[in-house]
Amino acid sequence: MVVTLFGLCVATLAIPSMARIAPRDSTYPAPGPCMGNCWTHDPSMIQRSIDSMYFRFSTGPGVNTMVSPDLEGPWEDWGPALPKGSIIQLDGVDDMDIWAPDLHYADDTYYMYYVVSKLGTQTSEIGVATSKSMDPGTWTDHGVIGLPPNSAYNRIDPNWITIDGKQYLQFGSYWEDLFQVELDTPLQVSSQTPHQLAYNASLDHREEASFMFQHGDYYYLLFSGGVAGSYTADYPAQGEEYRIHMCRSTSGTRDFVDKAGVSCLDSGGTILLESHDQIYAPGGQGVLNDQDNGLVLYYQYYPLSLKEAGGDGVAGFLYGWNKLGWQDDWPYVMATDGY
Ligand SMILES: *[C@@H]1O[C@H](CO)[C@@H](O)[C@H](O)[C@H]1NC(C)=O
Repeated sequence: MVVTLFGLCVATLAIPSMARIAPRDSTYPAPGPCMGNCWTHDPSMIQRSIDSMYFRFSTGPGVNTMVSPDLEGPWEDWGPALPKGSIIQLDGVDDMDIWAPDLHYADDTYYMYYVVSKLGTQTSEIGVATSKSMDPGTWTDHGVIGLPPNSAYNRIDPNWITIDGKQYLQFGSYWEDLFQVELDTPLQVSSQTPHQLAYNASLDHREEASFMFQHGDYYYLLFSGGVAGSYTADYPAQGEEYRIHMCRSTSGTRDFVDKAGVSCLDSGGTILLESHDQIYAPGGQGVLNDQDNGLVLYYQYYPLSLKEAGGDGVAGFLYGWNKLGWQDDWPYVMATDGY
């Protein structure tokens, strides 16, 4: 069933059949099935409270919005959340080009943090929009959240969490990697200085797309390490492509360590998921607390067959998902057979 549905999803996007490529040995299980429109980039997933409908938001003109009655689909494109783009105007940036949405629900309102940015620069802003239903066209854009610029960080890849009644936003990419800032309200950061959560001292400090969630006694910080790339003609050296790392902390605000006890401020970060079999460069991840399946890891990946066929850039990315299992208070990626 997994193979059939997965094949269907890929066939929809008209890329070469995966059946011709022999599977490699793998320590990771395949993602769950996907039907319908399985494209994604920097996904954020949430279930709507009123009807349990799944929403998958992605980087795209006006924020790409996909909906489905089930995790596996059939996923349908509902058009842009912000059809007129962001009210944030940045020099040299198309206001329709909105990145890395992050969704949560509180006080009968859906909040969507988002980014406008010039690729590879610190010319970036984090904005926020709200809606009562998440239907396209119902979003009210409130613009910037007031995060001050700083040469230490890039104001991209926001991720919201509440810890002991206080609201925080994780953010950042490259430069000095991942930071956290307290919010005064969901629409406005506090005047407190953002503090660093994770840093990789090697090479060009590749950590981004943070996502924090709570489970048991810990807060888990997931992030993407390695080279993101648009995966057209140029690919990073093998092993340097995107992958998902994890760290944990009891406070959620400091002292994140990996499985070996290495501080995540000191280049720590255990790998949760990396390239395997037909799954190349998984990243841009998040965790959904699914009403039926518990904690589910979702992510973007590039099909290896597409890479081997020459690549298709951002258009080639697909949505993957797996339930999370637990061992010694660390998550691992589970097979989805009979989920
Ligand atoms: C830090 O960077 C090195 C070199 O790119 C890489 O091998 C390692 O996996 C990275 N670690 C983390 C936690 O990002």
